[in-house]
Amino acid sequence: MIAQGPIVLVGCGRLGSAILEGWLLTGTVAAEDLIVLSPSEKPAAEAARTRGARINPPLETLTQARVVVLAVKPAIWRDVMAPIAPFLNDRAVILSVMAGVAAPTLAEGIGGWPIVRVMPTTGVSRGRGVASVWSADARAEAVGRELFAPMAETVVLKDETLMDAATAVAGSGAAYFYAFTDALARAGEAAGLDAATADVLARATLRSAADSMGDDALDALIGRIASPGGSTRAGLDALDQNERLKTMLIDTVAAAVRRNREMGA
Ligand SMILES: NC(=O)c1ccc[n+]([C@@H]2O[C@H](COP(=O)([O-])OP(=O)(O)OC[C@H]3O[C@@H](n4cnc5c(N)ncnc54)[C@H](OP(=O)(O)O)[C@@H]3O)[C@@H](O)[C@H]2O)c1
Repeated sequence: MIAQGPIVLVGCGRLGSAILEGWLLTGTVAAEDLIVLSPSEKPAAEAARTRGARINPPLETLTQARVVVLAVKPAIWRDVMAPIAPFLNDRAVILSVMAGVAAPTLAEGIGGWPIVRVMPTTGVSRGRGVASVWSADARAEAVGRELFAPMAETVVLKDETLMDAATAVAGSGAAYFYAFTDALARAGEAAGLDAATADVLARATLRSAADSMGDDALDALIGRIASPGGSTRAGLDALDQNERLKTMLIDTVAAAVRRNREMGA
């Protein structure tokens, strides 16, 4: 539980709502320690209000803020922060979940507060997200871990530039798995299954594989299904013929990293 001073969530859109729901679900932040700033009414904020969170209180209440979480679109953060910044105390930490806005840019626009960048997935709403944390400041990094580790598998990056790679793997990764699942279903169709049956089988397989993954080494997990000379081994050999699976994913992640860099430039 985070103590001492409110946590201010600025922006309650898709990600902001997921963060708010995750905090309350996991008890990471008590509702009475939450301040939410949102131009329009949001179901997640209203649900938090019924539990004691303050929604759009006077900006004077921000003087005690311990953390300000910036969850608005990158294009507007300067305008959003301008009226808030004069009320923040010296001990406040700025936590940005905005993609592609680098810490030096934030520091230049906001001022002297420690900054931590976190790149979470919306799975945090169910307490099952993924989050990458980076900060040049140890206290700010600790705040990032404290606020996200209870609702996300959290990694701390050594260098801010790795945020683009982490986003390309974890932020985009669910879409890659969905695309793979669709391709698997279509391959099942090509092998004679009807489309609906192939869909059910492919989706259920992804869910079941995720459920049984645990923390075992991936090679060991594969080895449990693919016995030498068996059908799964034959399929895997075809899948990674000439290392094409690895090559394809290196290209996939590299393309997403490039795009992340272009958008952040
Ligand atoms: N969505 C994701 O999966 C994801 C993942 C990682 C990082 N991110 C980052 O998270 C940030 C938000 O993304 P999103 O997908 O949640 O976008 P979004 O759904 O558009 O949410 C942005 C929210 O900002 C609010 N807002 C606008 N002006 C504001 C102000 N002056 N004060 C407070 N709130 C204000 C908007 O309110 P109204 O709705 O009332 O206009 C909107 O709800 C982005 O920077 C993005 O890069 C998102």
